Amino acid sequence: MERIIQDNLEKSEFLVNRRVFTDKEILARERAEIFNKCWLFIGHETEIPEAGDYKRKKVGGRNLLFVHSQDGEIRALFNTCPHRGALVCREDSGNSRVFRCFYHAWSFKNDGELVGMPGKDGFPEGFNDEGTKNMKAVNRLESYRGFMFVNFDDNAISLDEYLGNAKEYIDLVVDQSEYGMEALGGVQQYSVRANWKLLAENSVDLYHGMPTHKTYFDIKQAQDPNLKRVKLEGKGINLGNGHSVIEYVAPWGRPVAQWTPIWDEEFKNDMEKMKTRLAERFGEDRADRIANYNRNIVIFPNLVINDIMAVTARTFYPSSPGYMEVQGYSLAPKGESDKHRLARNNNFLEFLGPGGFATPDDNEALELCQEAYNNNSEVEWNDISKGMVRGEGNALATDELQMRSFWRHYNSIIQESLNKEVAHR
Ligand code: FES
Ligand code: FE
Repeated sequence: MERIIQDNLEKSEFLVNRRVFTDKEILARERAEIFNKCWLFIGHETEIPEAGDYKRKKVGGRNLLFVHSQDGEIRALFNTCPHRGALVCREDSGNSRVFRCFYHAWSFKNDGELVGMPGKDGFPEGFNDEGTKNMKAVNRLESYRGFMFVNFDDNAISLDEYLGNAKEYIDLVVDQSEYGMEALGGVQQYSVRANWKLLAENSVDLYHGMPTHKTYFDIKQAQDPNLKRVKLEGKGINLGNGHSVIEYVAPWGRPVAQWTPIWDEEFKNDMEKMKTRLAERFGEDRADRIANYNRNIVIFPNLVINDIMAVTARTFYPSSPGYMEVQGYSLAPKGESDKHRLARNNNFLEFLGPGGFATPDDNEALELCQEAYNNNSEVEWNDISKGMVRGEGNALATDELQMRSFWRHYNSIIQESLNKEVAHR
């Protein structure tokens, strides 16, 4: 592939080569240069609040065990037995002081230390004195305000530096609660027959909102005849390092906790109280941003946080160029009332959950793209130039600056790796 992108500011034209969605070599390069070197979201600390709590996670293609060890530390252990390699933990989640391997029954404390092997007499004295037979932990596990990330590159920059300007937007999400956020229930897992980068693009693409999700908006308006035609307005912002955000006015006035039912007087009053409380804590301007704007944030490469009617975090990983596995979490402010929590959960399930209105619509759009890329290689380039005429600092949320920010960063990594290889030949 001669070039990944064509970035022509003078002509206000930005093109992406469609082979990045279908090429196996590109995928191998993405795994080596992106998924093995960038910070990847593993989960929220509240998923494992008590000592002994654990969850199995698939992150960057690895089988991990996200565990709250007895010593109070949270760890990410590689879920593979140091003996002959079997997955040690077979349950998706639970609470245990010890993990016992199914195959030959070696057992490990929940910090990974080997504490038992049947038939000890066959092993030399001091077999594990160096700790080499313990379950191995991912060396880099760092947290920002409860959001925990791993990095498989021991030399990576800190998470704090990596997130950079994106931290401000995570703050806006977390600060809506006085007591912090918590992850709810389990994880929603589904797969899409589309390249993973299409979901990154889609998540900061307000342009698609009205056409792709027309059914949802029609239904909402049918439920409440007073609702005006929704107009999606806001900004698209490049946060650096491939991260980006769209921040846009919540179409019907954002309830702090939930979107609907806005015709319910009790909800309305609750929202006013929440807004007053936010203004007391943060001042009018910041309270206005928290309470009246939605945020869709892409943290490069594969974390999307939607702070809309419910707060969701999604990650995705390619098992092949045209196929990705998605994991979705729902987050909520700690301590909210049962009524609000119910509305939030309903909103999540109705809109962004895999059986909701939005996700199947989005998946349909992404699969239509992938199907066409797979079969029509004569057509080479995608156009992602909407809003370039406005200059790259003044993008609307319905522009495509957010995607260009992703692609420019992606290009700097992958094109550099391609160039190095050419130089070596
Ligand atoms: Fe785990 Fe043998 S593979 S005990
Ligand atoms: Fe969508």
